[in-house]
Amino acid sequence: MNAPRTPEKAPPLTAPPAGGAYWRSEEERIALTRRLFDDTAVDYDRIEKFIGFGSGSWYRRQALLRAGLKEGMRVLDVAAGTGLVTREAVRVVGNPALVWALDPSPGMLAEARRILAVPTLLALGEAIPCRDGQFDFLAMGYALRHLADLEVVFAEFRRVLTPGGRLCLLEITKPASRIGTALLKAYMRNFVPLAARLLARRRDTPLLWRYYWDTIAACVPPDAVLDALRRVGFAEVSRYVELGIFSEYTATR
Ligand SMILES: C[S@@+](CC[C@H](N)C(=O)[O-])C[C@H]1O[C@@H](n2cnc3c(N)ncnc32)[C@H](O)[C@@H]1O
Repeated sequence: MNAPRTPEKAPPLTAPPAGGAYWRSEEERIALTRRLFDDTAVDYDRIEKFIGFGSGSWYRRQALLRAGLKEGMRVLDVAAGTGLVTREAVRVVGNPALVWALDPSPGMLAEARRILAVPTLLALGEAIPCRDGQFDFLAMGYALRHLADLEVVFAEFRRVLTPGGRLCLLEITKPASRIGTALLKAYMRNFVPLAARLLARRRDTPLLWRYYWDTIAACVPPDAVLDALRRVGFAEVSRYVELGIFSEYTATR
């Protein structure tokens, strides 16, 4: 690990302390997250498409392009899930062999493999089984809120990127205004689980989508994400926000 660190490490940036209702320990949190995604993987794309929110294929591709993804780049998609970001990365770089999809959920990766012929890695973002500098671009879509210690993961991202490599993290963040947050919460807590209940083939799917909002609500604030990226040594760290809720964190190795 060659990422420069500041002498005193910031306190751990814990992922969703939505805690209580869902888990009592870090082990329980990891196990629950894996089980939920595994059990509901077959429903993920359909429900994601339905609830839309503009965060579909088109949005993901535009975000990757904004972050500097170009034809021929070697890409790692962390938290690839069913491959929604992976697919768009393949379209941009023009060769599926250049895009690797990493996820700890075998169920989600199995869905990705049904559609995509890309190399897959069953692993956590905290311990990427790849060599230093292996990628020109690293993307992660909608998984920041599942990470227990951002600095550990970001240092790992920096390690596998080549010097000058680009990072692109997508996440839904609470709007700046209280009314915006209330509207988003109403949508995510009421409409989304209802839609999930109506469309789901798996029993736990509505729970996953309720959990979705709880993890967004409890996710670390954007400034803490930007700080953590700087602390592990990323340069040109910035955040672009689309429609008040879609945050795109970008940085250069
Ligand atoms: C909401 S899905 C996002 C899938 C996809 N990136 C997208 O754009 O829709 C979150 C994914 O993060 C994965 N995940 C959870 N914890 C993770 C971790 N520590 N490292 C890497 N992936 C993780 C889950 O297995 C799940 O597939």
